[in-house]
This record gives sequence, C-alpha cells and structure tokens, in this order.
Amino acid sequence: MLDLRAQFETIAPEIRAAVEQVLTVQQFVLGPQGEALEREIAEACGARHGVGLASGTEALELGLHACGVKAGDEVIVPAFTFIATGSAVSALGARPVFADIDAATFNLDPDQIEARITPRTRAIVAVHLFGLAADMDPILAVADRHGIPVVEDNAQSLGATNHGRKTGSMGRLGCLSFYPSKNLGAYGDAGMIVTNDEKLAVRLRALRNHGQTGQYLSTERGWNSRLDELQATVLRVKLRHLPAWTTKRQEHARLYDSLLKDLPGVSLPRVPPGREHVYYLYTIRIGDRASGSARANKPGDEARSDLVQQRLKERGIASTVYYPVPLHLQPLYASLGGKPGDLRVSERAARQVLSIPLYPELTREQIERVAEEVRKATQED
Ligand SMILES: Cc1ncc(COP(=O)(O)O)c(C=O)c1O
Repeated sequence: MLDLRAQFETIAPEIRAAVEQVLTVQQFVLGPQGEALEREIAEACGARHGVGLASGTEALELGLHACGVKAGDEVIVPAFTFIATGSAVSALGARPVFADIDAATFNLDPDQIEARITPRTRAIVAVHLFGLAADMDPILAVADRHGIPVVEDNAQSLGATNHGRKTGSMGRLGCLSFYPSKNLGAYGDAGMIVTNDEKLAVRLRALRNHGQTGQYLSTERGWNSRLDELQATVLRVKLRHLPAWTTKRQEHARLYDSLLKDLPGVSLPRVPPGREHVYYLYTIRIGDRASGSARANKPGDEARSDLVQQRLKERGIASTVYYPVPLHLQPLYASLGGKPGDLRVSERAARQVLSIPLYPELTREQIERVAEEVRKATQED
C-alpha cells in the first residue's frame, strides 16, 4: 500500500542533516524544531496557532477536553472513521453518539446531526476522511444554531480545502496526526492541534505538559503529550515537500480515474464542487448499487470488496479495507446498543470500500498495473 523507503530515498540527505542538528543541540522534547513546526503547520492550515502533541489521538482527546467535554457528556461522531475518533471521546468518560455518513463522500452527513443533539451534546466531530473535506458549511450552521463547538478530525486531510478554506481551520480547532503513513508522516508518533483561538492554544500548551503554567506549577490535571524534537525536525523537512507530493497524489488519482472509469459495479472517489481532495487514500466502492449497473444490482455484490481484495492479493497487489466495521458495531461499543441496520450508509460503505495503493512515488507503470489487475479482479465471475 505504501513504500516509505521509496520516499526516504528522495530526501535522505536532508533528513540526516536535520536529525544531526538535533543531536548536536541535544534538546529532545519541546524545543525550537517543535516551535517552528507549530508555526509552519498553522500556516499550512490557514490557522493562527499550532500546538504540537504526541499523537493525533491525543490531539482529539486534549482538543475535546479543552472544548469542555467531560464524563457524562455526548459527542456526535460519524460512524465510518478510524476508531480513534470515537475512543478519544470515550477516554474522557463521554459517550460517542454515532451519526451516518454521506454515501458519495464517506463524510459525516450534515442532515444526520440535528436529530442527535440533546442537552448533553458538548461537541460535534467532523472527520475529513481519506483526504476529502467534510461538508463543513451545513455542519457549522447546525452547530452554531445550537451553540456547540465543531472539532475537526483532520488526521487524514492536511492541505485539503472546502471552498478555499483549509481543513482544520474551520471549526473551533483541528486535530492532525503525523502517523508515519499519513500524507505528512513522522518517523514515529506525533500530532498537532491548530486553532485560531489564542486562549485555547495557551491552555492546550499547558494541558500537553501536565497542566503546567509555570515551572513545576500545575493549574489543572493535564497529559504528557509533548512533541519531540526528532519528529519535529523530520516533519519540517517533509513539509517542504508536501505540496509537490500532494500534486503527485492528485495526478495519480486522475490517472486511476481515467483507467478505471466505466468499470461495471465499481464507483470511484467523487469530489464535490469546491473541494480539493488530497488523496490520503484512493478508495473505490465495489458492488455499489448507486453505479446503476445490472451487475452491481445482483444480491451478494455488497460483499465483493473482500473477494476482489483476495484476488488482488493473489496477483501481488496490495489493497486495504478502511474500515470494515463501523464504530457503532465495534465490540468496544456493544454496551451502547448499536445494531446492524442502525446506520445503513456507514454499514454499506464498510462492506463495499477498497483502497488501492496511492502514494507520490508510484510510477505510471505501477498505477497501470494496479488498474489492470483491479479491472480483471472486479470483472471476473
Ligand atoms: C481519522 C483518524 N483519526 C484519528 C487518528 C489518530 O491519529 P494517531 O494515530 O496519530 O493517534 C487517525 C490515524 O491514525 C485517523 O486516521
């Protein structure tokens, strides 16, 4: 799915020099590299402040906590996302309330929010999934009407835009993950919160460091979620390359689009007008009834993504189902009473999605080969 070594080969001298510099300085946790990265990432997101953290999961936890989420509260979360979106809510003792997604974009369906708002709703999490911004205007409108903050889970979509606005900068705060496989990936775990709210940024800086506001002086209970300098320096090198890498991802996606178009029963990523997709993943749907083909309407087609994945594997092509079990059906959340049929769009997506390799260093020949094998694997009986 991903060849991190191929990327490293293109930047090895820069990375080695940057790491060498940190080794010379011998400051490893919270330092000049992290501070510079905070400024650079905030700018890249069109936000005023960045607060470097130890992971994207903790960005969600600290961010939700700073928005006032506490034990007994409810947070509205899309059901089709990585588990961390929900577990960050649970870590605070709050209850995730799962909402369905929009079938075309895999992102939170704005029309699903209002009916789930109760007096206990303390936040709404909008996930920008797979590299595509969620439909933020109606999400922000419903949140504003009820005076509820929107937290953006921007782990997968750094650089994506929605009508010219960058993901991460539209809600109260945006949470980033720099997990190694992300479009901007560290060489370990790292994360960040971006926000336009200075007070919030100041509080988050304390929260990530045991709630300390002065030397060995804690004003509230916090976390140890500090960004380390080795990760920050790696990320700063990579950030310089991110615009070119994103362009490559977009070119590769267009090539897949042209090679896979008109495949019966297969639908390709759809980008609504006004949004720029950064293709963290290139995710197709197999057996999508929406494609309207006779083949796709056969009973049983909904489980074809597993079959296609198996056929691709036999031909040496990697593919991954992100995500096979929606959050409301995760064993972790059995006590919340979710049942199959509750959130049908998410459940159908979970059965139908298949992500195929897409990263900047892929060659045209590799993409053509993957597309050819996908064509064969989806059209065999
Ligand atoms: C949508 C989403 N949210 C949250 C996270 C958590 O980020 P991390 O792995 O950095 O904790 C990830 C990625 O791993 C993610 O994809």
